[in-house]
Order: sequence, then C-alpha cells, then structure tokens
Amino acid sequence: MRRLFFALWPDDALRAAVVAATAEALAEAGGRPVPPENLHVTLAFLGDVAGERLADAVAAARTVTAATARQRFDRIACWGRGGPLVLEATHPDAALGALQASLANALFAADFQLERREFRPHVTLSRRPLRRPAARPPASPGSVLDWACAGFVLAASETRPEGSRYTVLERFPPG
Ligand code: 2AM
Repeated sequence: MRRLFFALWPDDALRAAVVAATAEALAEAGGRPVPPENLHVTLAFLGDVAGERLADAVAAARTVTAATARQRFDRIACWGRGGPLVLEATHPDAALGALQASLANALFAADFQLERREFRPHVTLSRRPLRRPAARPPASPGSVLDWACAGFVLAASETRPEGSRYTVLERFPPG
C-alpha cells in the first residue's frame, strides 16, 4: 500500500517565491511550517492504494489533457477554527478547475474513491499553526505567485517521525 495523491508541483523558482512571499505570515503563525520541498497544490487525494493499482492511477491520469492553466495565489489565510494556514486563490482559474475535474472523473471511472469535496486551489503552509495571523496578500509581487501549470504529478506520501516525506512518482505529461 502507498499513500498517493496528484498535485501541481512547483519548480525551484516558484517554490522559492512561495517561501519568500509567505515567510512573514508563517513566522507570525508559529509552529512547524510545511518544509519548502513539500509545498504543492493537491488536485486529488487517493489515500492508500495497493501496489497493483498504481498502474491504473497512472493510466487514468494519462487520459487527462493537461490544459495550460494559470492560477494566481493571492491570499494567505487560516481556514476554519483550528484549520491550516494556506496560500489560496480567491479567483480560481477555470482551466485549472477543468483539469482537476477531468482528473477526478478519470479516477472515479477507474474505481478510485475520492472525497467529493469542492476544489479550492491552495498550498498548505502550516497544518497546525499556533497563532492565527490575519488574512493578507502574499508579501512579494503577485506575478511570482502566478502558477503556470503545464502539467501535474503523482506523488507518494510517507509518514516519518520528522514529518511527511513526498516522492514524485510520475509526471503528466511525461517530461
Ligand atoms: P492539503 O492539500 O490540504 O495540504 C497529501 O497528504 C496531500 O493530500 C496533502 O497536501 C493534503 O492536504 C491532501 N489531502 C486531501 N485530502 C486528504 C485526506 N483526507 N487526508 C490526507 N491528506 C489529504
């Protein structure tokens, strides 16, 4: 069994931009931030998947045409009471929404169980912030958080004593 999810995965420049743009809010929030190498935008969370089903997940994702979406992440906020600190998009991009929906539909068709919850594009910055900073825009110019999405990845998550560790298994389209 492996814990799998599909996600937008930032390149190094975008990752560094997210870190710089969110550092102040994270410092205010306290607690343990998501390490920079783990930052991503989840598209579909599969949960525990048996080894022999991995190829089915890959095949389903290959049927999805990765539209060139652009998503601007323009707000840092805490979700709910006791929820995570996230970098979120107040104007979800229609092409990204369509990409996520077609991925979810392909996975449903391949008999994967996904939660049917509304897709709210976000990057989790801290899962359990100690304090709840006021919502604000990211600190650096908006253009750096304009996430050009040419594709997405399938990643595996392992829980370690020091926290989650993610490994990219496949890229869509392959590259
Ligand atoms: P997130 O997208 O809000 O950060 C890997 O665990 C990723 O899948 C995390 O980024 C996590 O949340 C997302 N995810 C979505 N649903 C989940 C669930 N039921 N359990 C764990 N992670 C989930």
